[in-house]
Amino acid sequence: MICNHGKLNRWVEELARLCRPDAVVWCDGSRREYDEMIAITVRSGMATQLDPVKRPGCVLFRSHPSDVARVENRTYIASRTKDEAGPTNNWIDPEELKATMRGLYDGCMAGRTMYVIPFSMGPVGSPIAKIGVEITDSPYVVANMHVMTRVGDRVLEVLGEEGEFVPCLHSVGKPLAPGEDDGGLWPCAPLDQKYISHFPEERTIWSYGSGYGGNALLGKKCLALRIASVMARDEGWLAEHMLILAITNPEGKRRFVAAAFPSACGKTNLAMLIPTVPGWKVETVGDDIAWMKFDADGVLRAINPENGFFGVAPGTSMQSNPNAMHSIRRNTIFTNVALTEDNDIWWEGIGYDAPAGKIIDWKGNEWNRNPEKKGDQVAAHANSRFTAPARQCPSIAPEWEDPAGVPISAFLFGGRRPSTVPLVHQAFDWNHGVFLGSIVGSEVTAAALDLKAGTVRRDPFAMLPFCGYHMGDYFAHWIRMGTRTTAEKLPKIFYVNWFRKSSDGKFIWPGYGENSRVLKWVFERCEGTAMALETEIGFMPTPEAIDRPEGVSEADLRELLSVDREGWRREAASIHDHYASFGDRLPAELRSQLEALEKRLQ
Ligand code: OXD
Ligand code: MN
Repeated sequence: MICNHGKLNRWVEELARLCRPDAVVWCDGSRREYDEMIAITVRSGMATQLDPVKRPGCVLFRSHPSDVARVENRTYIASRTKDEAGPTNNWIDPEELKATMRGLYDGCMAGRTMYVIPFSMGPVGSPIAKIGVEITDSPYVVANMHVMTRVGDRVLEVLGEEGEFVPCLHSVGKPLAPGEDDGGLWPCAPLDQKYISHFPEERTIWSYGSGYGGNALLGKKCLALRIASVMARDEGWLAEHMLILAITNPEGKRRFVAAAFPSACGKTNLAMLIPTVPGWKVETVGDDIAWMKFDADGVLRAINPENGFFGVAPGTSMQSNPNAMHSIRRNTIFTNVALTEDNDIWWEGIGYDAPAGKIIDWKGNEWNRNPEKKGDQVAAHANSRFTAPARQCPSIAPEWEDPAGVPISAFLFGGRRPSTVPLVHQAFDWNHGVFLGSIVGSEVTAAALDLKAGTVRRDPFAMLPFCGYHMGDYFAHWIRMGTRTTAEKLPKIFYVNWFRKSSDGKFIWPGYGENSRVLKWVFERCEGTAMALETEIGFMPTPEAIDRPEGVSEADLRELLSVDREGWRREAASIHDHYASFGDRLPAELRSQLEALEKRLQ
């Protein structure tokens, strides 16, 4: 398809002149194109085709050992002033950053092809969706974007001659000399040349030097969270680091819940949960990002802007998440997991021992399966990933691509809190719920260096690495959103904690499918049928209101559902420290929420 969008064509021409690729290819989003990207990477030795019977259509990539995760210390919010980026973001003056990066982009695609990927975040044409165009020199990125977003001609059609798009520029940062190739290795630049840059006023993304995940698949964290959070502030909606699930009771009534937990707290597992409570059903709308707008009736409706799952592999098993395991049976891109002798994948926590025969670890070496002899060398990198199409998930909700979005009844917030925070409590009202979102965090365990065990590392709304502007203003935006409809139509807000530990250091709550017992209470609170006690910290279920899972004693449940007043007094003191960093940009409403909590605890 010929692109008739003048601004887009000029942008591509300008960047082709700067980056000097050997060729420019516009991506059409077809299966043929995806297969071609995979074929290119297999031919070059960068990817391994997996067993066609066990893993049809699946490939394995190994990245460079220095390029295995998002690089937060090389991620910049280059707003006009440092103050606009706020205390939680790295900032460089945008003109200075652009000058540095232009220098890096100059000739950076020599010996490579420049791909132009028109993509939609959200169902193509949805009133909540947004269009981006990513320019990249990585066929790995093109293939991943095919899975994670909607790519190609149908996006250009919606864009027309002057539709709005977010320009996203990406290069692996490794130009090739004449006759040189990558030798089958993952191309990237050294750490001090990696830049993941956002220009919020221009709504533009420039990424250089990394080929991995959120650094390179620019629709995900860069567009759908950092840039979208700025758009959402300006346009009156919400772009959040949240899963979306559907929950259906035995009578067939359905509700939708969105939940924000920091990275690696089990969002994908919760989104794909199989309930242990008889007669209840949970289905998946999204596992990482939610975009939400009020409709004409004042109902908050959410879409999942993504088209696939970019999930953490280690720990994913038929026990922890069977729906994820079924989703990755075919058409999946694996990155940095281990390879078995029969060309299948394996990772720590997959639920069975590594099969006999040679195992190749994520670095491409033969794995020593007795790691105690060699230290703790893992076969799969801790942040190894699968990229799988959402439509392959057995629990995918029928509404997951509804362009109008799904109506949200409840928000859940949570983190890893071995102490203090109960299994579940409900906010008194919207502003109290915003307060709960603003204090999300995980307790640091003794294993983390340089931080005192028991300290809480705050990750407000699980957006710490993803909010594209001043976090104090982001809180204020949440407070404002609560005034845009009636109290009855606003989602109810809950704080959950699956990670309470007993004094002997064991998890008290079994988690996984048993979390459905908490979701049931949340559902029934939304229905107005579940009882709750009013406590100092919010509404809480009585122990009788939560069905007790096997292995949890009555005393355990009482502990999980009690208010630790002493702990909460310490918590309030720590919230003061947390809030201090936002200075006068902290909304007065949140300061009064904290004061009210302290008063209730006196
Ligand atoms: C992710 C993350 O990859 O939050 O989703 O880090
Ligand atoms: Mn995430």
